[in-house]
Amino acid sequence: MGYVELTYTPGEDDLICTFRVKAHDLRRAAEAVAAESSIGTWTDVMTMKEEIRERLRARVFEIRDDVIKVAYPGELFEKGNIPQILSSIAGNIFGMREVEGLRLEDVEIPRSIALSFSGPAFGIDGVREKLKIEERPLVGTIVKPKVGLSPEEHAEVVYRALRGGCDLVKDDENLTSQDFNPFEKRLKLSLDAVKRAEDETGEEKGYLPNITAETQEMLRRAELVKELGGKFITVDVVTCGFSGLQTLRKHDFGIIIHAHRAMHAAFTRKKDHGISMLVLAKFLRMCGVDQLHIGTVVGKMEGEKEDVLRIRDAITGEFYGIKPVFPVASGGLHPGHIPALYSIFGKDVILQFGGGIHGHPDGTEEGARAVREALSMVLEGKPLDNPPPALKKAIEKWGISETL
Ligand code: 3PG
Ligand code: 3PG
Ligand code: MG
Repeated sequence: MGYVELTYTPGEDDLICTFRVKAHDLRRAAEAVAAESSIGTWTDVMTMKEEIRERLRARVFEIRDDVIKVAYPGELFEKGNIPQILSSIAGNIFGMREVEGLRLEDVEIPRSIALSFSGPAFGIDGVREKLKIEERPLVGTIVKPKVGLSPEEHAEVVYRALRGGCDLVKDDENLTSQDFNPFEKRLKLSLDAVKRAEDETGEEKGYLPNITAETQEMLRRAELVKELGGKFITVDVVTCGFSGLQTLRKHDFGIIIHAHRAMHAAFTRKKDHGISMLVLAKFLRMCGVDQLHIGTVVGKMEGEKEDVLRIRDAITGEFYGIKPVFPVASGGLHPGHIPALYSIFGKDVILQFGGGIHGHPDGTEEGARAVREALSMVLEGKPLDNPPPALKKAIEKWGISETL
């Protein structure tokens, strides 16, 4: 078929994909993957011209064990269109009979494509500037129970958490605008809570309402956040999809976009099939989210340290001058994890504690206090033995996790 060309050297406009392939006949599978994801189909067609084949076909330029690298000419892709790119390199190929398993492990994106997207408006520095926090990890919480509270109860939890020491409070991924807690009312009351907490603590604070919805409705909600002076929004980027996310980003609301990745594990988790979180994270950075969940290493969700740090590096490292995304560690964390989290992530991370704050024996405010106390001790280089009262109770309940 001619798609395997091991002597080929990729050019600077090529987009390069690394796939892990499980197949009886690896070479045949490699041919099929490169064909279907670029210009080919299952048979030769009379409408194909030699010139198209020469200019636009993908080329498998490396086969090493079960890993292949494929170079795609940049011309195959529409600039500024993530759905189109994914329909090519991460589309039909996952279902082809030639492969038993296929995982898109990594993608290297050429400058011309990367710069056709918005990228983050704020990124790490922009978020730090808004909150006036320079040197330390940010700490936040997710209102719990994740759904079920009324707007009034929700806003009270926001207030307590911020007073206790959280910088940020967010809605959970499945709280949007249910009858028991409509978006608009919750937003108004929660932003009032932010104002009160800011006045009382003298610190800048943020509330991250979850605007996830059908695209038009999502835009309406973002507009409302802007009108009411909110600084942040949360979006469930996988369930909303790239199209909705790109539309949101293009509207340039001047609001920080926090990306929750609920549902990603449906395709990122299996090691022999799907799309890696690394790839998803690179596309989300191009799209322009400012904050992204990348895993915790030590919390409730799976994710090896090496993988999590590779994702961290991909969203914070140099990328044609596109701003770095603030990595978020969230899921199953409590104050006793903070020494380990700081040693894994350093200062550029947003640490979020849901159960680990609202599960404190004395409630949300003390839970948030315990988090700040633990963070202060860790930043001063002290171990968590001999903790102040709020932290002491948290540690009695959850312990101190080992530093990796
Ligand atoms: C949650 O919603 O409980 C978690 O934050 C999910 O974990 P993740 O952010 O690592 O995907
Ligand atoms: C999130 O959305 O990030 C979470 O709901 C985390 O909650 P947890 O800290 O209770 O796991
Ligand atoms: Mg959650």
